Amino acid sequence: MFHTVLCDLLGIRYPIIQGAMQGAGGPRLVAAVSEAGGLGVLPTFGGTEKDLRDDIEKTRALTGRPFAVNITPIGRAFTESRAAICVEMGVPIVTTGRGDPGSNIVQKLKEAGTIVLPVVPSVHHALRVEAEGADAIIASGMEAGGHVGRVSTMPLVPQVVDAVKVPVVAAGGIGDARGLLAALALGACGIQLGTRFMATVEGECADWMKQRLLEIDETGTMISSLMTGKPVRAFATRILREYEQALAHTDSAEERGELRTRYLKELRNAPVEERTMAAGEIAGMIRDIRTVRELIEGIIEEAATLAEKLYRVSRAEGGGKPLNIRHRARASES
Ligand SMILES: Cc1cc2nc3c(=O)[nH]c(=O)nc-3n(C[C@H](O)[C@H](O)[C@H](O)COP(=O)(O)O)c2cc1C
Repeated sequence: MFHTVLCDLLGIRYPIIQGAMQGAGGPRLVAAVSEAGGLGVLPTFGGTEKDLRDDIEKTRALTGRPFAVNITPIGRAFTESRAAICVEMGVPIVTTGRGDPGSNIVQKLKEAGTIVLPVVPSVHHALRVEAEGADAIIASGMEAGGHVGRVSTMPLVPQVVDAVKVPVVAAGGIGDARGLLAALALGACGIQLGTRFMATVEGECADWMKQRLLEIDETGTMISSLMTGKPVRAFATRILREYEQALAHTDSAEERGELRTRYLKELRNAPVEERTMAAGEIAGMIRDIRTVRELIEGIIEEAATLAEKLYRVSRAEGGGKPLNIRHRARASES
């Protein structure tokens, strides 16, 4: 069930991509996702060339299934060298994040036969990367953990779907079967999840991060440019709040630079309870740590049940019982 064009394009069983997560997902997580029928994605946001080569080798030792490498375009030399490594090592799929990788990079990857899926925050970006030759586009709303734009997933995805001809994947604020069905209803052919994969047995992040994901509610994240200089959704903390408040009081580039240096230093020396990490609004929904296989198969199985219910309701076959798509346990009870 739920075999879409994305499955054919990427050679995967389920239309579920694990978004690259610097600091939270290396070869172990990536291989687990690919083994479970989704697409695991290795991050390369920073890190040396050797790190990337080693991660590709390690992932290959753990799975024979397709996986991708994500290139965050943080400068031309970095982007070109990481793309060249992907080509040289025969990585079949590349995703890109935080902005346009540039036509040159997409073209080089395409000439080598690489499938390219850029992550975009707007219709404008989607049109640009489609023109550069992207095979599919991941439209990511501002609910997402990590770098974000200004539009939410619900309005972004259908507008990107309407604007481009290539397949569209929905990302940002998706963590369960309801999110998968909603994304398909919006016209997407699959979903990309980040935050939910952090809270898995194989998620490669510190224990305090998994614990924080279990504890916070839907208001427990915020957008701040402290960590990378660009807007990132992350665990809301006193330090991030104070930094953003201080920024709002000055337009001077020099003062803003000084503030960033000061607050970054404070962040580096902060005790665990004041540390932060990229995380999305979906964290409020996370109540358990599952294996990657349990998570992926659970989403697919539950989506099949919910789709059946929706179908029955649309055909007025619900016996007059109103549809109530609630929490996992409730959904299977009713
Ligand atoms: C801890 C963390 C690190 C991330 N690192 C990257 C990254 O290196 N490159 C990238 O393109 N996206 C990165 N992202 C974004 C994810 O790949 C994904 O698109 C996003 O998490 C989806 O939204 P969600 O968190 O609501 O599931 C990161 C997200 C998180 C939570």
